[in-house]
Amino acid sequence: MTEKILIIGSNGQIGTELVTELRKNYGEANVVACDIRRPDYDMKNSGPFEFVNVLDKDNLTAIYQKYKPTQVYLLAALLSATGEQNPKLAWDLNMNGLLNVLDFSLEFGTKRVYWPSSIAVFGPNSPKQQTPQFCTMDPNTVYGISKLAGERWCEYYFCKYGLDVRSIRYPGLISWKAMPGGGTTDYAIHIFHDALKKGSYASFLSAETELPMMYMDDAIRGTIELMEAPAEKISIRSSYNFAGMSFNPEDLAAEIRKHLPNFKLHYKENDPRQQIANSWPQSIDDSVAKKDWQWQPEFNLEKLTLAMLTNLRKG
Ligand code: SER
Repeated sequence: MTEKILIIGSNGQIGTELVTELRKNYGEANVVACDIRRPDYDMKNSGPFEFVNVLDKDNLTAIYQKYKPTQVYLLAALLSATGEQNPKLAWDLNMNGLLNVLDFSLEFGTKRVYWPSSIAVFGPNSPKQQTPQFCTMDPNTVYGISKLAGERWCEYYFCKYGLDVRSIRYPGLISWKAMPGGGTTDYAIHIFHDALKKGSYASFLSAETELPMMYMDDAIRGTIELMEAPAEKISIRSSYNFAGMSFNPEDLAAEIRKHLPNFKLHYKENDPRQQIANSWPQSIDDSVAKKDWQWQPEFNLEKLTLAMLTNLRKG
């Protein structure tokens, strides 16, 4: 059976790359990019695009009726830093957007649904090092609260209605094709742009702030591997811990200096994102993903830095 795949939130940092990869694997006409904003030229011209507001049920009905999707990826969300500026909107979009997609997917017989969670589901009382799959979770951002609640809904729809929902707790995702969308880990992308443009960067996170991170190529591959894994291999129906590497701004700057020896890193104080970062894990234990669907990252800090600098220089 031919797959028909909807990607809702296709213009964001993840969607931009996921659409391209899925179109390569499943055929351009079978992957429908959907976003509330106009896409860039490339995305529109390499396959179907639809304007979709995930909070508009009439709009969603029309899209599900038109395409009868076999798979749906819901990527539309407000991230951690932006969410704190508008908590009610973050809750509405992140929660009701998910519930709408779960309900429509059930109603229209969608076979598989993907929804991203985040390391933001952990909080100040979660273990900081090698944070396990199951532990105390007390997120204190509206983004983290919405992701934790969303994970529970995903598991609920699987257990109660048999909907095949799959999810990953992404760490900070580092990429060069699209700019990040208002997260706490965004410094690790801005630093590369400024290193090349200005030779210096002012980090909003402090020198010792270590966070879990991943290069986008790994994240996209892992996401598709999870979605293509046989259902009986999936033991986690909330969301999988998922890890690539961990570093702090000083580690990253030292690696950048191997390519740009004069690069200077300084720090901005009192940025609200510091508090968010302080409540998150420093490293993640993803042994369940490794065991269930053979997850294995390819990029370490060295490879990531080389890939970012090489690609941004070309662009
Ligand atoms: N990168 C995201 C953020 O910082 C984490 O999910 O909000």
